[in-house]
Amino acid sequence: MNGFAEDPAYADGYRLWLNYDLISDAVKRQAYANAAQFIAVKTDSPILKSAADELQMGLQGLLGKSVPVIGSIGSRTGGIVLSVNPADVAGQSLNKEGYRIESKGGNLIISGKSDAGVLYGAFALLRQIQTLQSIQGISLVSNPKVQFRMLNHWDNVDGSIERGYAGSSLWKWYELPERIDPRYRDYARANASIGINGTVVNNVNASARFMTSEYIEKVAALANVFRPYGIRLYLSVYFAAPKTLGGLKTSDPLDPQVRQWWADKVKDIYKAIPDFGGFLVKANSEGEPGPQDYGRTHADGANMLAEALKPYDGVVIWRAFVYKADPKADRFKAAYEEFVPLDGQFDKKVIVQVKNGPIDFQPREPFSPLFGNMPKTPLGMEFQLTQEYLGFATHLVYEAPLFKECLETDTYVKGKGSTVAKVVDGSLHGYSMSLMAGVANTGSNLNWTGHPIAQANWYAFGRLAWDHTVSSEAIAREWVAMTLTHEPQATKRIVNLMGKSRDIYVNYNTPMGLSRPWTGVHFAPEPWQARSPRPDWTAVYYHRADSMGIGFDRTATGSKALEQYRPEVQQQWNNPETCPISYLLWFHHVPWTKKLSTGRTLWDELCTHFYTGADSVRWMQQEWAQVKPAINPETYANVAARLVTQQKEAIWWRDAWVLYLQSISKQPIPPPFKQPARTLDEVKQSVNVYLLR
Ligand code: GCU
Repeated sequence: MNGFAEDPAYADGYRLWLNYDLISDAVKRQAYANAAQFIAVKTDSPILKSAADELQMGLQGLLGKSVPVIGSIGSRTGGIVLSVNPADVAGQSLNKEGYRIESKGGNLIISGKSDAGVLYGAFALLRQIQTLQSIQGISLVSNPKVQFRMLNHWDNVDGSIERGYAGSSLWKWYELPERIDPRYRDYARANASIGINGTVVNNVNASARFMTSEYIEKVAALANVFRPYGIRLYLSVYFAAPKTLGGLKTSDPLDPQVRQWWADKVKDIYKAIPDFGGFLVKANSEGEPGPQDYGRTHADGANMLAEALKPYDGVVIWRAFVYKADPKADRFKAAYEEFVPLDGQFDKKVIVQVKNGPIDFQPREPFSPLFGNMPKTPLGMEFQLTQEYLGFATHLVYEAPLFKECLETDTYVKGKGSTVAKVVDGSLHGYSMSLMAGVANTGSNLNWTGHPIAQANWYAFGRLAWDHTVSSEAIAREWVAMTLTHEPQATKRIVNLMGKSRDIYVNYNTPMGLSRPWTGVHFAPEPWQARSPRPDWTAVYYHRADSMGIGFDRTATGSKALEQYRPEVQQQWNNPETCPISYLLWFHHVPWTKKLSTGRTLWDELCTHFYTGADSVRWMQQEWAQVKPAINPETYANVAARLVTQQKEAIWWRDAWVLYLQSISKQPIPPPFKQPARTLDEVKQSVNVYLLR
């Protein structure tokens, strides 16, 4: 069953971290084999069957022997027993999806209160073996900290993916529902292995076609594949569908006919997908329709959908990514201003999904001030796995440090220790639901994510949604062992490289609190970009560079956005003398010649970040070259080639920023750095060419 190990097509990462190659250490292999002589499972529920199948396939590959699945163990010992025990008599410590693995009576018992718990336990046991941990006397209990652990696919009906960099959509709408691509199952296996239990299959900029019976049938076929892996399917909805698709005069959420239309639609969906999860909604954001088109609030819109879903226990996930085209406003403040007044007005089946930062998935952002400020409304976290602002699929950026940085930040809303993670997992405010969503980075590329290392971002997201206390380094180590190599020196190097990669990217891309959410492809460096239909879709709006200095004053003398945080947080960022350099230009307009705590002027410090960032990519290349003997040649070459591109592009970014800012600051490049080899006009020209159709 593990036959694809020998197939060169799979050498380049198709198997992801579910890479069940034979363990080369014969002693270890034998020890595992002694404990895994059979797999006993009593019922044939589809989820338990998935668990048994996976164990069988995994052990076959890892141990090189076939392990039989049996119904009843009788008095046998030396095997793996899958056991669902809703009462959890062994202790009170398991939640609905948690698992326990223990060595008992000569067997390895994987138990849970639900089938899904056992499935997660089966993957956890495989992970133990894949990472070469001892399983002797094992006693492991693990519970997910977050209830809804989801991927959001921004996939369109035409097969394209908004902000997708790894090929086209995994979902072949034109073949569905008749043909089921075997890849759908592998997708479900990969997600289940890291505890992901939900997936939104279509773009938040949603097509109303997903509400047609034709598409409901297609989507139902996907749900059938995901169900045995404990994964529920959700859909993004187009708020104006009652009008555009249903032919009604309005999509006003308080209109009885509109409400009926949604109720009927939901009924159709549940007929086809009995365990359908619910709706994800982007409304009144970036031109999408929404309740405000009818003078209603976000709560009115969300509650109307919640009412339609109520008979089936479905949830509404309403996004807080909103900002109006107000030239005087600070986009930073928009979501807070619109949503905080609505706290307490949402139906209890509504979760508001908030991007980690107040703007838009920037390489480094402060946490969204919504976290902590809506105690009566469950707030879910939205992270972006696809690297929209992080170098697409050509730059090596391990995102777990970014996720952790946000999750571990203290909001101080209930005193010290009120971290963003505690808001999101529901423990701080006692939310009735909790959610973490990752905007998927998958596509039709054979290795799923384009950049081989980007698989680690998918992996890390799932692991953190399950348990946000695990360190990003531990996750990287685990992923490397499961995916790339067991060789200790190479592992150390790769984990170190991954750990530093995000800061390196920030340094050459948006150091010291710069941001670049201007409209367009989000790849080419255009800090000079000043023209757009909306001021907040220009670059100059964000960096505010002028003859005096650079940065966005968000203190009391500026936009006052800082006031959206608790005083303890304000204190950290309010004073330009003490504000950490990594957030400085997020909150302050700083003179070019101002001396910083580093002893350098602001200008010199900026240059130091840009230059050392770009130089560090060379270091990444050298480090990667060292691991060559320990990595499969395909993956090695793939990453090495992408690092060459990354190096060129890092210099492109550096040169664009430095030359453009120099034209304003009129400062020389500080030694030992050298003036870029090209002129500002030449960089601008290269960007213009890049942006040609
Ligand atoms: C970003 C992104 C869009 C996306 C939007 C969203 O602005 O560039 O493509 O639709 O976020 O999250 O809704």
